[in-house]
Amino acid sequence: MPPPTPEQIAALEKAARQAARHSYSPYSGFAVGAALLEAGGAISAGCNVENASYGLTLCAERAALCQAVARGHRRFTALLLYTPTATPTIPCGACRQALLEFVPDLTVIAVCDGPERWIANLAALLPQAFALTKPGETPHA
Ligand code: THU
Repeated sequence: MPPPTPEQIAALEKAARQAARHSYSPYSGFAVGAALLEAGGAISAGCNVENASYGLTLCAERAALCQAVARGHRRFTALLLYTPTATPTIPCGACRQALLEFVPDLTVIAVCDGPERWIANLAALLPQAFALTKPGETPHA
């Protein structure tokens, strides 16, 4: 998959910032927005949704992933995470595993309200990940 263009990254950031405004995070006070870019150019966004039963909390990345899959998208080229913080927030382990289901070498970008940006490849973020397929196989793509 080709890396996202600067224009695509800007569009992802806009979508993630917009989604973060809808974050439901009364317990942590930590708003998160995520946006996924599909190979065809479509963007799906999500925010974290917390619950009084804390363990039911859904991260922004998985909210974006569910929205994208429900729209028929599975071939992603990049995920961008936005938090209104001074430094970028790196996706949690559960979300890394959820994203890896569809694109093991996804480009992951994190931005914040400070000048720092962070970029990595999902394969490096979750080495030797659990999978029911052999390395290189993508039966669900
Ligand atoms: N959160 C995310 O949305 N994504 C992550 O990768 C890490 C954590 C959310 C979950 C919870 O609502 C809040 O951030 C604090 O953990």
